[in-house]
Amino acid sequence: MDTPFVFGKIASGKEFTDRKDETVRIVNNFTSGTNTILISPRRWGKSSLVHHAAAECNHPKIKFIILDLFNARTEEQFYELLARETLRVFSSQIEDIIKTTRNFLGRFLPKVTFSPSPDTEFELSMDWEEIKREPDDILQLPEKLAEQKKCRVVVCIDEFQNIAFFEDHLNFQKKLRASWQLHKHTSYCLYGSKKNMMMNVFSNYSMPFYKFGDIIFLQKIPSQDWHSYIQNQFRKTKKKINANALKLITDLADNHPHYVQQLAQLSWLRTTDKCDTVIVQKAFDGLVRQLSMLFYDQVDNLSTTQINFLKAVSEKAEHLSARETLEKYRLGTSANIQRIKQALINKEIIDVTPERIELLDPVFGYWLINDYFRRR
Ligand SMILES: Nc1ncnc2c1ncn2[C@@H]1O[C@H](COP(=O)(O)OP(=O)(O)OP(=O)(O)O)[C@@H](O)[C@H]1O
Ligand SMILES: [Mg+2]
Repeated sequence: MDTPFVFGKIASGKEFTDRKDETVRIVNNFTSGTNTILISPRRWGKSSLVHHAAAECNHPKIKFIILDLFNARTEEQFYELLARETLRVFSSQIEDIIKTTRNFLGRFLPKVTFSPSPDTEFELSMDWEEIKREPDDILQLPEKLAEQKKCRVVVCIDEFQNIAFFEDHLNFQKKLRASWQLHKHTSYCLYGSKKNMMMNVFSNYSMPFYKFGDIIFLQKIPSQDWHSYIQNQFRKTKKKINANALKLITDLADNHPHYVQQLAQLSWLRTTDKCDTVIVQKAFDGLVRQLSMLFYDQVDNLSTTQINFLKAVSEKAEHLSARETLEKYRLGTSANIQRIKQALINKEIIDVTPERIELLDPVFGYWLINDYFRRR
C-alpha cells in the first residue's frame, strides 16, 4: 500500500509543500548566477528545497551538478566526487566520458572503469595525491565544460559542513575560493547543518568564503501550510482528519518537517475513516517509545552537567547564569554555562538564538520531560 507521507528521504512532487518564497529566491539565484548558502538544523528540508528549486528552475541552458559530502572525509574524496559527478552530468555516452577525461584531466593519468550495468555508472581512478597538490584542473572542470557546451552550471554541495573533517580545511577553502571566484559560467549552492560552523565559514571576515553569496537561514514550515497539506493527503486516500488532530500533530512535532511527516504517517496508518486527537496521541506515544532507545544512548553520551542544563532548558528556566538557577540545577559555576552550551551546540542538540535556547529534536525534548526526568 502506498502511504501518502514521506520522511527519511527527499520530499518532492506532491509530497513537497510550502517553501514558495525560498524557492523563488533560490531559483532567481540560479538563473542570475548568484551563489547561495542555505543553513538549517538537520531534517528541516534543505536537500528537498534545493532539489525542488533545481526542478522548478527548468532553464534549458542551466545544468545542475549535485554532490553530497555525507560520506566525504578527505579532500581527495571531494575532488573525486566533483570530477565524477561533473563527467556524469556532461556526458550522455561512455565515449564522452573517456574523451572528456582525456582532454581535460589527461595529465593525472585517469583510468575510467565501467560497471557492467547500468552503463552510465563508472569508476574514475587518478593520482589523487597529485590532484590534491594542484586541484585547479578539477576545480575548473565544470566551468570549462560549461564554456565548451555554451551553457551554465550550478554546482550544489550538500552536507557542506563536512569539509570541517578535512585535514587543513582552511587551506582547502582558500583553494576553492581562489578558483571559484574566477568562474563566469558556474555558480554554487552550498548547504548544510551545524549553524556555527557554517556561519564561521560564510560570515567571518577573516575566512575565504566571507560574503560569498546569498545566505538563507531556512525556517520551519508554518502550521497553516502543514494543516492543509496533511488534510489533502488524508483526503486523497479517502480518509478524514479533524482540525484538533491537525493542530495536535504540528504541536507535538513542533512543526519540525521530518517529524510532522512521520507523525502524520503514523496517525494515517492507525486511521480507518476519521483521524482524531486520540489517534494522534497514541501514534505519538508509539513514536516516543520507538525512539527511546536512541534517546537513552544520546543521554549516555552527555555529562551530568549537560543533562542538568537540558533540564533547566526544558523547564524554561530563566537567567541560566543566575546563582539560584546554577544551584537549583547543579550547573557548577557560571563560567561553566558557556562551555556546556557550546558542547551541546556542537552535538547538534540545542540551538541558541538571542531570543531563546531550544532543543532541536522536539521528540527528544518531550521524552526528557515526560519520561527521563520523571525517573531521575
Ligand atoms: N517542503 C517540504 N514539504 C514536505 N515535507 C518536507 C519538506 N521539507 C522537508 N520535509 C520533510 O523533512 C524531511 C527531511 O528533509 P530533508 O532531507 O530535505 O532535510 P535536510 O535539511 O536536508 O536534512 P539533513 O540535514 O539531515 O540533510 C523529509 O524527508 C520530509 O519528511
Ligand atoms: Mg540534507
